[in-house]
Amino acid sequence: MECRKIRIGIAGLGKIGCAAVNEFDKQKENFKMEAGLEIILKKTADKDMEREIYSLPFTKNVEEIIDDGEIDIFVELIGGYSPAYEHIKNALLKGKHVITANKAVIDRYGSELEIIALEHERYLRFSASVGGGMGVIDKITSSEGNNTKEILGILNGTTNYILTRMNKGMDYNTALLEAQEKGFAEANPEFDVSGKDAAQKLAIITSINFKTKISSEEIYCEGIKKISSEDIAFAKQLGYTIKLLAISRLKDNLLEASVQPVLLPKRHALSSINYETNAIYLKGNANIMLSGEGAGKPTAAAIMTDIRQISRMMQNPYQKISFFGTNKFEIVEKENLESRFYLKFYGLDKPGTLHNLTGILASHNINISQAIQIGEERENFVPVVITTDKTKYGEIIKAISNISREKLRFGSVFMISNCDYPDKE
Ligand SMILES: NC(=O)c1ccc[n+]([C@@H]2O[C@H](COP(=O)([O-])OP(=O)(O)OC[C@H]3O[C@@H](n4cnc5c(N)ncnc54)[C@H](OP(=O)(O)O)[C@@H]3O)[C@@H](O)[C@H]2O)c1
Repeated sequence: MECRKIRIGIAGLGKIGCAAVNEFDKQKENFKMEAGLEIILKKTADKDMEREIYSLPFTKNVEEIIDDGEIDIFVELIGGYSPAYEHIKNALLKGKHVITANKAVIDRYGSELEIIALEHERYLRFSASVGGGMGVIDKITSSEGNNTKEILGILNGTTNYILTRMNKGMDYNTALLEAQEKGFAEANPEFDVSGKDAAQKLAIITSINFKTKISSEEIYCEGIKKISSEDIAFAKQLGYTIKLLAISRLKDNLLEASVQPVLLPKRHALSSINYETNAIYLKGNANIMLSGEGAGKPTAAAIMTDIRQISRMMQNPYQKISFFGTNKFEIVEKENLESRFYLKFYGLDKPGTLHNLTGILASHNINISQAIQIGEERENFVPVVITTDKTKYGEIIKAISNISREKLRFGSVFMISNCDYPDKE
């Protein structure tokens, strides 16, 4: 019996495009036997002629794929906002199903593109855009009954690699260089180390989980550059590991979303996620943790999952499935984010310094949990580390500005995870 044929076109033959073509070659025969469907890679496109894969039909013009009436699925692997967004939109308008790994486009235009897809009875899939190797999007959508109210994620391999190495005593610059040498960091690492990559991913999964629309621009985002080796060592002494965490939680219709360095209790399951590994912790009726690698191969595998799913769904009447939703929540401002805090100051090594500091914090109704002088004296100044009880970020900011006036030098401030996870004892 002749197999039903499904034709796909891939635009963008960079790192992920090539990995996807590879994976496609490996899986197509199996899929034919399992599903009775023959998937044909009809065209590939890249703006750079040198990327041509000689065994495959190639064009420099992506529109040739979009205008090809025989192609059923358009796979966008170009990246960036434009022209990727326009290509995806046109492909949907021209009746193609679309698969993309593009977190930037899905963060900014995901719900708009989904509406177009639904109106034209086409499928839009983007499993590879966030934690493809962990199947995060699939997990969130298939566990609606879990009523997940909080997401915690280590969503960026570059920063997790650097922090892991710093935790073992390496300084930031050496750790970054090593990550670059091993291919875990870009030559220009700014997008990753600033937390923006994680913020785009957080925006997508938060929108899907809470059936709403939040973009990365609405997420409070702070990267890892201001974490010093000293902070890592002090956090360690206090029983914490510093991680760049993507956090979103919904409470009383207030949506909190941030990407920032956070002190995690060492017993927390996420604190042992090291190097380039990503992980996500979904807290709901059950607490679910997923972990996995990012980058090339796992991302290509997620694209293949999308291709397989759409090919199967094409054999049945169209099903309206939406990832995004219309729920509206008030987004908590940075000043109103509530947490316990780690504060580091440098005070003159003389009697009364600690008393002075704690007095200022008390005047802002900040309760101190621990106050210790640790580390070595430098030019008469000693580091003083304070951990607070739960308070608002706004209060901390006000207290810090008062403290600076009192000639105590401010060092750093980080949130302490206020979670009560009984994961590991
Ligand atoms: N890399 C990862 O680990 C990873 C993981 C998950 C998701 N993703 C996502 O996957 C997508 C692709 O990432 P990548 O790492 O494969 O990027 P990449 O290596 O830069 O590949 C993109 C390819 O598209 C080509 N291109 C750019 N503009 C084009 C245009 N107008 N028409 C045709 N081709 C064009 C680029 O050519 P030039 O090089 O000449 O510009 C390049 O060959 C991005 O959305 C990214 O966010 C990547």
